[in-house]
Amino acid sequence: MKKRITLLLLATVLIGQAQNLISNVPNRAVTSLNGVWNYIVDPYETGFYSFHHDQYDKQTKPSNAAFFNNYHAVNKQELVEYDFDKSEKITIPSDWNSQIPELKYYEGNVWFKKSFDYDLKDKKRLFVYFGAINYKSDIYLNGKKLGTHEGGFTPFNFEITSIVKPKDNYIVVKVDNTRHKEDVPTTNTDWWNYGGITRDVTLIEENEAFIEDYNIQLKKGNSALISGFIKVNNFTSEQNQVTISIPELKINYKGKVGTDGIVNFEIPAKKISFWSPENPKLYEVTIDFNGQKLKDNIGFRTIETQEDKILLNGKQIFLRGISIHEENSKGRRANSEEDALRLLNWAKELGCNYVRLAHYPHNENIIRQADKLGLMVWEEIPVYWTVEFTNKDTYKNAEDQLTTTITRDKNRACIIIWSMANETPISDARNTFIKSLVDHTKSLDNTRLISAALLTQSGNGFGTINDEIGQYLDIISFNQYLGWYGGNLEDAEKILWKTKYNKPVIVSEFGGDAKAGLHGEKNERWTEEYQEYLYIQNLKMIEKIPHLSGLSPWILVDFRSPKRLLPGIQDGYNRKGLISNDGNKKKAFYIMQDWYAKKKKEKSS
Ligand code: GCU
Repeated sequence: MKKRITLLLLATVLIGQAQNLISNVPNRAVTSLNGVWNYIVDPYETGFYSFHHDQYDKQTKPSNAAFFNNYHAVNKQELVEYDFDKSEKITIPSDWNSQIPELKYYEGNVWFKKSFDYDLKDKKRLFVYFGAINYKSDIYLNGKKLGTHEGGFTPFNFEITSIVKPKDNYIVVKVDNTRHKEDVPTTNTDWWNYGGITRDVTLIEENEAFIEDYNIQLKKGNSALISGFIKVNNFTSEQNQVTISIPELKINYKGKVGTDGIVNFEIPAKKISFWSPENPKLYEVTIDFNGQKLKDNIGFRTIETQEDKILLNGKQIFLRGISIHEENSKGRRANSEEDALRLLNWAKELGCNYVRLAHYPHNENIIRQADKLGLMVWEEIPVYWTVEFTNKDTYKNAEDQLTTTITRDKNRACIIIWSMANETPISDARNTFIKSLVDHTKSLDNTRLISAALLTQSGNGFGTINDEIGQYLDIISFNQYLGWYGGNLEDAEKILWKTKYNKPVIVSEFGGDAKAGLHGEKNERWTEEYQEYLYIQNLKMIEKIPHLSGLSPWILVDFRSPKRLLPGIQDGYNRKGLISNDGNKKKAFYIMQDWYAKKKKEKSS
């Protein structure tokens, strides 16, 4: 058996790619590697390449100058020009921009090192799991390369069973947040390029064969049938029994794992208390395989469209939403449960039943908290503005990020919409790119709705939603900025938005900046009064939109952006928040809150 695992691992390590994602990490036997790590800022990649640019980890015997060897001089004569243990320290998870003042604008390479002991018992396996690293990373353990990962907002894991030692392990991570035009997102974004190990680092201990992934949700179109799969890693026929128990539903399903390590199932279920914002019911589910009991808390609900309506559990709903960036009020990447609760409780206070998590997959904490709080979620991959739609590698990167996001979050009832993109310019290549992502999404999950935030002001002014990818989407979502990027707020009530699709419509963004505490006349840009008037007028226009099924104004909280430079007003922040980055509600917050309170009283909301 050990030989088989070693070969499996060897193959993976040789390939150097992250392995199949292990899902439901929060409920597994884990050891955290969060905490104090040493770091070395390396703008010239001195620890990665020789002076003639030979890549050290491609050498048969990598030089001691390679930082991933964590080398220390053995005598007074030896030349060694780095030392992790004498280098600066940083608390992980975090982004270096907000933790280290000199690195506020730094885009480049930083190495991180953590030493740890681990006593791995016989017949056990060990994995290292990263919640996210922005943007590209090379991972090493005890000098051996585990692999690389690209994409700043999705988790990945590597097996370390045959490399980890009982004492003095050292994990070394090279992080590069340099932007490239072929990346996803591309070089131009209206958010801060936070670099670093921005989410949890976890060791996961498993049996030789273990439950790697599973999907347990209502079958599409059938609210009395729970269906899905269980996937076992390194399955052997010695033990092929899997049970799924959901005591509150009197379910105790027994299935046999097939030779492919998978068991597919359909389980009739009666009297389900369906998940909804009013009733965010989560059932305790236990999967038992070969003595491993893996628990999860799963909600069951249906989400579908019927012509121009969105139906949750067969009933028409209106999405009272708000857009949210993954940033906390200390101006850094949000990643903790506390950060998630702060953001989601503000959304609840606003009167929301729905949040648009922009523009990339957020951390798992906020998804699981939304499940518990009863907030429906729009989750998005960062196909943002002008990614390289003709580049095959760019498409594969976007598709991989989508696959990982769906793998991680497919059991969360709160997620109702997968978003393919934001404000991408119309072209044939873009249409093909998005259509392929839509088809890929449906192949992984046919139960949720698919959308994308469309751009409307491409020479059509206000009133027309004419993007042809609308044909591929379940929901027509569009961003419009009447009164901020053009148009005249006095004309608001004369504008009627039209779309040729008989589909639900969401206004996925509208808004304007206000510096909290700056007051003046309603026609003075940057004042709270201007933002307040902008909301009043936009809402008068929006409520007239036929097929309107929801909105998610831009944005809950002011957020950092290197593009927003007006001194004394923006100072590196996008000020469209209804709440300032230090937590002060602006006058427009209360306009939106009142509008949602009235909306909630209406029948379908
Ligand atoms: C765009 C974009 C946002 C951006 C916002 C703005 O629509 O989707 O990411 O921050 O508008 O300009 O403030």
